[in-house]
Parts: sequence; C-alpha cells; structure tokens
Amino acid sequence: MSMEDVIEECKLFYFAGSETTSSLIIWTMFCFSLQQEWQMQARQEILQVFGTKELHFDGLKHLKIMNMILNEVIRLYPPATMVVQATSKDTTLGDMMIPSGVHIIIPIMHVHHDNEIWGEDAKDFKPERFSEGVED
Ligand code: HEM
Repeated sequence: MSMEDVIEECKLFYFAGSETTSSLIIWTMFCFSLQQEWQMQARQEILQVFGTKELHFDGLKHLKIMNMILNEVIRLYPPATMVVQATSKDTTLGDMMIPSGVHIIIPIMHVHHDNEIWGEDAKDFKPERFSEGVED
C-alpha cells in the first residue's frame, strides 16, 4: 500500500467509525428522553455492574438491558439507512441467480421497519423484542 492508500484508509475508519457511533449515541439519548423507564433500568443495570468504579471492557458483556436498548435504537434509527453491494461474479442468493456486475440496494431502514418481520408494533420502541438476543 502506498502512503496515500494508508491515509485514505485512516480517513475511512475515522468517518465510518465516528459518524455511525455518534448517530447511535444521539438517538439513544433521544429514546431515553422519551422512554424514561428504560433510562432508569439502564442506569440501574450500569450501577449494578460497575458501581461507582470506572467502566471496564469485562463489565460490558454483563449489560443485558443496555444491549437490548442499543439493538432497538439501531433498528429504529440505523446510522446507515441503506447499502449498495455489487456482484463481481454470477452469484446465487436464496433461490435467485444474480449475474455478475449487478448492483443491489439493501434498504436497511425499510427492512428494520417492516411489519411482516417485526410485527404490527414495528414502529414502536420496544427493547424487550431483543430479550433473547439477536436471531440469525
Ligand atoms: C453503530 C456503529 C456502526 C454501524 C451501524 C456501521 C455500519 C456499517 C455498514 C452498514 C457498513 C457496510 C457498508 C457497505 O457495505 O456499503 C460498514 C462498513 C464499514 N465500517 Fe462500520 N458501522 C459502525 C461502526 C464502525 C466503526 C466503529 C468502525 C471503525 C472504527 C467502522 C468501520 C467500517 C469500515 C472500515 C467499513 C468498510 C467500508 C468499506 O470499505 O466499504 N464501522 N459499517
């Protein structure tokens, strides 16, 4: 890789990492302000796991409620609302054959709000739908 390539990769990491996580954090604050009972549960859980100590990585895996909340926020308000992928060779996807060179748009926002996938309450903030984690 040339120095220029490395610089471009660093810029990509910076942009891809900071825009997405800051969007998630802001929408989480927004949801907390509307859903204060979830805010209280999250605060309680964090106090239970960390007490008054500094946050540490080991503790993060014990934050079940916080993870449910983040999954629900990112479902309702995905930082990337759609992605485009292109096939570089003939590809089979489920029962579809997609020739090489086709661009496919994946409408993340639409999929995340689809009543057929999430139920009639797809537009509601309900972290409990992730109480069993994320299905494959
Ligand atoms: C809430 C957090 C994040 C979300 C929702 C998110 C979402 C995505 C999505 C949807 C893509 C695929 C884009 C595509 O294929 O068109 C992607 C790619 C990528 N993400 Fe993230 N991301 C997040 C956090 C991060 C962080 C923290 C980093 C780095 C520190 C990062 C670095 C990247 C990179 C390098 C790519 C590949 C870009 C490429 O070469 O096409 N992302 N991300």
